[in-house]
Amino acid sequence: MFNALIAKTLPIVPKSIVKAVAKRYIAGDTLNDAVQTTKRLEKAGATATIDVLGEFVRNREEAEHSREMSAQVVEAIRQHKLPAYLSVKLTSLGLDIDKQFGYENVKELVEQAKQSKIFVRMDMENTPYTDTTLKFYKRLREDGYDNVGVVIQAYLKRSEKDIKSLIDYNASVRLCKGIYVESPDVAFKNPDEIRANYKKLLKILIENQMPVGIATHDDNLISFAEQYIKGEKISKKNYEFQMLLGVREDRRDDLIKKEHKVRIYVPFGDDWYGYSTRRLKENPQIAGYVLKALLTGK
Ligand code: FDA
Repeated sequence: MFNALIAKTLPIVPKSIVKAVAKRYIAGDTLNDAVQTTKRLEKAGATATIDVLGEFVRNREEAEHSREMSAQVVEAIRQHKLPAYLSVKLTSLGLDIDKQFGYENVKELVEQAKQSKIFVRMDMENTPYTDTTLKFYKRLREDGYDNVGVVIQAYLKRSEKDIKSLIDYNASVRLCKGIYVESPDVAFKNPDEIRANYKKLLKILIENQMPVGIATHDDNLISFAEQYIKGEKISKKNYEFQMLLGVREDRRDDLIKKEHKVRIYVPFGDDWYGYSTRRLKENPQIAGYVLKALLTGK
């Protein structure tokens, strides 16, 4: 109850406080911070997917800047031989400004990554972009790029149909619950329904031998996935667990110890506000952290 209240009032919490509380979710302001974080994760036995923070850019210059930043990530992964790939939000590349411009931008990145055998995951944003993101994925594959993957959100009622449309592509899918505020017309709202759909979708992905990133911190779903994978004798090549930086590191280490592959989402950059506030709203300890920061300034 109190947490929900804090989550609702976040927009009026000073940005400095939000940043103090949210910094655990972000590698830092610079690409070097992301590189160092990835190296630390490698030592802990995990891999990474690096994301330049930013979304919903307003003009072509911002989109080109975003593309350039992501291109630098690809180059850093190559140079430092990081166990990592790139995650990218299509609205940061100008999808909202002009679809063809957005497509050219993502294609340029995927082409650059392909030269160095680096994979690119297109994050999934809110429902105005679902169709286009899936279309871009299919178009990239038809244009000859297989170093690209997509994300499916279990809270969306359309997701089963979407996954079925990806079977012929043997698509690499990150499966998550979904984080945006969506209408009950298109999305399940009840946590049990979302979990049930997650399990159903995971089974479809695994039955069809599609490479899957099991992106969740939910114990119930992680345990389900572990048992299912064991029961079906799924090869390690075909699945990995994925988690967000700064969330449930105990569970991450436990999965690594059990010899599952684990990939951590490593965001960096100065455009941290939208990403951080979404994370804070999911944090069960949000009220305590925000109050402490308000009282101590840290
Ligand atoms: P849930 O939110 O129920 O969390 C389960 C438990 O984990 C909580 O009870 C709590 O203990 C802990 N927890 C979760 N979040 C926490 C936090 N911030 N701080 C502290 N504890 C926390 N979404 C999307 O719409 N498009 C996308 O492309 C992606 N991409 C993506 C990549 C990766 C690697 C991950 C892990 C997640 C995403 N997501 C995403 C976000 C996803 O949709 C979802 O919002 C979060 O992962 C939280 O959902 P869980 O499945 O963890 O369950």
